[in-house]
Amino acid sequence: MGLSVVILAAGKGSRMKSSMPKVLHPIAGKPMLQHVIDAAKQLAAEQIVVVAGHGIDQVRSYLVAQKVEIAEQAQQLGTGHAVDQALPLVNADNDVLVLYGDVPLIQKETLFNLCQEIPASGINLLTVNLGNPQGYGRIIRDHKDQVMAIVEQKDADQDQLLINEVNTGILAAKASDLLSWLKNIDNNNAQGEYYLTDTIAMAASEGGVVASQPASEIEVEGVNSRMQLATLERTYQLLQAEQLMAQGVTLIDPNRLDIRGELECAHDVLIDLNVIIEGLVKIETGVQIDANVILKDCVIGQNTHIKANSMVDGALIGKDCQVGPFARIRPNTELKDEAFIGNFVETKKTTLGKGSKASHLAYIGDASVGENVNIGAGVITCNYDGVNKFKTIVEDGAFIGSDSQLVAPVTIGKMATVGAGTTVTKDVPANNLVISRVKQKHLSDWQRPGKIKTEEKQ
Ligand code: UD1
Ligand code: CA
Repeated sequence: MGLSVVILAAGKGSRMKSSMPKVLHPIAGKPMLQHVIDAAKQLAAEQIVVVAGHGIDQVRSYLVAQKVEIAEQAQQLGTGHAVDQALPLVNADNDVLVLYGDVPLIQKETLFNLCQEIPASGINLLTVNLGNPQGYGRIIRDHKDQVMAIVEQKDADQDQLLINEVNTGILAAKASDLLSWLKNIDNNNAQGEYYLTDTIAMAASEGGVVASQPASEIEVEGVNSRMQLATLERTYQLLQAEQLMAQGVTLIDPNRLDIRGELECAHDVLIDLNVIIEGLVKIETGVQIDANVILKDCVIGQNTHIKANSMVDGALIGKDCQVGPFARIRPNTELKDEAFIGNFVETKKTTLGKGSKASHLAYIGDASVGENVNIGAGVITCNYDGVNKFKTIVEDGAFIGSDSQLVAPVTIGKMATVGAGTTVTKDVPANNLVISRVKQKHLSDWQRPGKIKTEEKQ
């Protein structure tokens, strides 16, 4: 006997006013439906069945790579009818957990508890007490406080409307029981729908209904409009921010951080305003992230400082590095420890060795740069001939003068110096000076200037 999770996602979501199905709208960068699927996966469900209707093609193509089955509900005749469409795909011996594609923040612990000890011919039901129960199905209990039935808002009388305990819609029951109950429901109600909630009265008179509550109301909040989507987004972001602060991270303003992915963050990290985290990001201890930084799929090593308005995407940044302000670190960049990237520097598919610097205005792409290299202002690796990409190699200790172009494929040897404004088209041997402002020359016996004492400078 396994667990089948049925996720209802066939509704139109007309209040979203969107050509995209409601359940594909994101919370924290991830479709609401995916949040629900991920919660189901954490329960080690044997199968996940999504009931789709409106926008089924979009839902299907979104789910294409996932181990999720789809049941079509061509016409939305009600939640009971929706569950009934999934049951033919479900193993009759299984337990069934009913979830909703537009209730994205449901947590695994709540669901795990709900799926324990489902009574034979009974239902485990998730309910919640709301200050304003308007719109929800009300939980009707008898004098012994046993759940008897659910009455929908539109079918409720004056007394029933005063009840604050409402149906979240989330429930667990045995597939075989749901199958027989759903055969017997009708649509003689205010909305002319086949209500899943009508199974509650049936279960109550058979094996019983056990009601439990989620740890937090947020878990069962649904989204019907873009305003509700935005509100839930902020609530969710604030929860993530609170978790980070509890872990020892300083957030200058917990309301101005957005985590759209997974952030693993060590203690004593400082994050300034308007930082966006995407994908999988790891930040080690002592790191400072300044305002308006976007970090995506990257690791930021200990004590590194990412300065304002920088973007880091697909990169491994070592310890004690400095990046930015206004830097763009693109995929497959690796900065070794103590590397320094200044303003208006772009890197891509590049390794910058320990202690190397590119302080201003440079493009370094498809390059392998050794240790203690200095890349001057305005240096460009010309990695692309219009068709192919080529590699630039800069060996340890080389000095690339400002406004130089390194036309790949090309290698700048160890401790070589490229004079400012040089277009390097041929490999430069170690220790050479290369300069091409007039004509490229290689001086094999060239000595680097030593430090001039102040009195000699006069
Ligand atoms: C439902 C419950 C109500 C509960 C509330 C919680 C019923 C009859 N009522 O009411 O007790 O308090 O949820 O939010 O179950 N859906 C389908 N196919 C359908 C109908 C609905 O997939 O034919 C999906 C919708 O996309 C939606 C969800 O089921 O995600 C709930 O449907 P909706 O019609 O919004 O039910 P409520 O009136 O909110
Ligand atoms: Ca609803």
